[in-house]
Amino acid sequence: MNITKDCILKHLRENRDQYISSSVFCHNSGISRAAFWKQIQLLRKEGYIIDAREHLGYRLEEEPDRLDKQLSEIKNIYFYQTLESTNITARMLAEKNAENFSVVIAEEQLQGRGRLGRSWDSPPGKGLWFSMILRPHMISPTAAAPITLVTAVALTRFLREFCGLPVKVKWPNDLLLGGKKLGGILTELKGEPDRVDYIIAGIGLNVNQKKNDFPTQLIPLATSLHLESVRRFDRTELFLSLRHELEKAYRLFFEAGFSPFAKPWKEFNTTLGQTVTINWPGGTICGTALDLTAEGALLIKDNQGQIHQINYGEIIT
Ligand code: BTN
Repeated sequence: MNITKDCILKHLRENRDQYISSSVFCHNSGISRAAFWKQIQLLRKEGYIIDAREHLGYRLEEEPDRLDKQLSEIKNIYFYQTLESTNITARMLAEKNAENFSVVIAEEQLQGRGRLGRSWDSPPGKGLWFSMILRPHMISPTAAAPITLVTAVALTRFLREFCGLPVKVKWPNDLLLGGKKLGGILTELKGEPDRVDYIIAGIGLNVNQKKNDFPTQLIPLATSLHLESVRRFDRTELFLSLRHELEKAYRLFFEAGFSPFAKPWKEFNTTLGQTVTINWPGGTICGTALDLTAEGALLIKDNQGQIHQINYGEIIT
């Protein structure tokens, strides 16, 4: 704990609407001007926006948005400031028998992972990066395959109902808003041919990013809840609600299978009726996305008129 920094921050917060004089503060607290300046720099590095004016002093303009530290006091929530990837930590915890529905959440990921070996931009203070550990009883990997679609339905339904935003789903794991990527799902599974040991459902959701918070190459492709609504979201509150909705959805899926999710998925999707090229374990296939089965497989009619049932894959165009 840095007492000097905390005192300066407290003083800035108590005087939000005015500039504070560094010389008065230093005189009253007995610290040097150099030490004061160093602490201001540290605060700025942490994301505090502090204006400095000659003859006036310093004024706190904006505080960084941080997830509430009290998250770590909630049972089965593993909260970290910085992780390589929440999916990696969730896997380690799952190997150590972490309970069903435990969640790993990080303020920032240094090597956030997307599908197909891509990276996932996960800066602090902007989005939600978390992974849920699922331990279904006696279910085969094939029966568990639609878990990504279930996750997409639960997230989309919540964001539509509670944030009033027309979020859509692109098969299998993209959440879209205004035609741009709002979020993604990275599901990993460990098991035997006939039995799942555990599933890690990794979720990345862009929440409060402004346009320039995205890396340049992502600006035309990515969006956030803030960009599409001009609201700022309390990420802690949003996370707790999403965790609740996801847990509810997974319980239903493991009890009743995919069929309760097929209708909402069809309502939210942007894929059916489109001509698509898909990479899947059987190769690459080009055709029309016809329908989704009650088990969550995508039906594709190829250019020769043959119908394929696809459980896993990635739309490349
Ligand atoms: C994708 O659309 O490619 C999937 C992106 C998934 C990103 C999330 S962020 C939390 C979890 N940890 C990771 O390293 N990746 C997932």
